[in-house]
Amino acid sequence: MEAAGALVAGAALLLGLYALIYYNVVAATWCRNTVSLRGKTVLITGGNTGIGKATAVDLARRGARVIVACRDQARGESAMHDIRRESGNLEVILMILDLSSLNSVRAFAQNFLESEPRLDILINNAGVFQGAETTDGYDQGFQVNHLGHFLLTHLLLDRLKRCTPSRVVNVSSSAHTHGRIDFRNMHKQIKSAGQSYSNSKLANILHVRELAKQLEGTNITCYAVHPGVVKTEIARFFPWWSQGLIWFSKLFIRSCEAGAQTSIYCATEEGIERLSGRYFADCQPKVPSLLACDDQLAKKLWEFSDRLLGLTS
Ligand SMILES: NC(=O)c1ccc[n+]([C@@H]2O[C@H](COP(=O)([O-])OP(=O)(O)OC[C@H]3O[C@@H](n4cnc5c(N)ncnc54)[C@H](OP(=O)(O)O)[C@@H]3O)[C@@H](O)[C@H]2O)c1
Repeated sequence: MEAAGALVAGAALLLGLYALIYYNVVAATWCRNTVSLRGKTVLITGGNTGIGKATAVDLARRGARVIVACRDQARGESAMHDIRRESGNLEVILMILDLSSLNSVRAFAQNFLESEPRLDILINNAGVFQGAETTDGYDQGFQVNHLGHFLLTHLLLDRLKRCTPSRVVNVSSSAHTHGRIDFRNMHKQIKSAGQSYSNSKLANILHVRELAKQLEGTNITCYAVHPGVVKTEIARFFPWWSQGLIWFSKLFIRSCEAGAQTSIYCATEEGIERLSGRYFADCQPKVPSLLACDDQLAKKLWEFSDRLLGLTS
C-alpha cells in the first residue's frame, strides 16, 4: 500500500516537472498576427531545414515571394518543393549561398540584385555549431554566423532602402550570454565549437544594435531573435558520444514551427518599429546580456568586421 502511494506520488512529481519544463521551455508564444506579405520579397538564409524552413513556410503562406538561400543545391531544391507544397505558394525560389565563402556571398548578392527587384525582409538565419576553418581563413562559426551575414546585409542594404518600410532579422541565441568579443582572436579558429558559437551569437546581437543606430530615420528596422531550444539539425556535428543525450533531450525542446515564431513576429508584427535594435524571445523584447547591450563594443565590432572585409577605404 505504502509502495503504491510512493509510486503515485513519484509519477505525479514527474508529471508536474514535465509540465513545468513544457510550459517554460517547450511551449512557444505564437505569433498571432495575420499580416499579409503579398507583393513583398523575403530572403531567408539557411531556409532548407530547421527554423529557417519553418519560417519560410509561414511567410510564403502570407503571400510573400520567398528566396531561400542555401549552400547545397540538392537539399535546397528538395526544401523549395516542400515549402511550395506546404504553403501553396509557387513563388518560392532557391538561390545558392555559402556563407563560409566571402566570394560566394558577393556572387550571391550580385545575382540577387540582378534578378530580384525587391527586398522587403532579410532574415539572417543560417548557423553552424562546428569548429573548423573556412577557406577565407576564419573561424567557421565567426564567418558563417556573423561575418558572412554582416557582408550580405551590407551588400543588400540599398535594395532594402529602396523598399522601405523594410526589416532585417538576425537569428541569435540565448547562448550569447556565454559569448566573448576579443578582437585579437575571435576571427581565428577556436578549438571549442561551443565558444565560437556563443561568440558569434553575441556578435549577431551587437550587429543589430549598431545597424539600428546607423539606420535611424531610414524606415529600415532590425531585430535580433532567440528562437528557444528547438528540435533541428544544428547538433548534427556534435561528437558521436553526445548523440544519445541529444536524442533524449528532443523530448523537452520545441518544434521548428514553434521555434520560428519569434522570427516571424519580428519580420511581420506592425508597431514594433520603435524597438529596432532590440533582442526578442518568445515574441517579446528581452534584455540580453550586459555585453550585448554595450554600444561601444557594438561600434567596435562593426569597424572590426568592416576592416576584415575591406569595406573601409
Ligand atoms: N536549434 C536551436 O535550438 C537554436 C537555438 C538558438 C538559436 N538557433 C539559431 O537558429 C538558426 C537556425 O538554426 P537551426 O537550429 O534551424 O539549425 P539547422 O537545422 O542546422 O539549420 C541551419 C541552416 O543553416 C545552413 N547553413 C549552415 N552553414 C551554412 C553555410 N556555410 N552557408 C549557408 N547556409 C549554411 C544549413 O544548411 P545545410 O542544411 O546545407 O547544412 C541550414 O539550412 C541558427 O542561426 C542557430 O544559431 C538555434
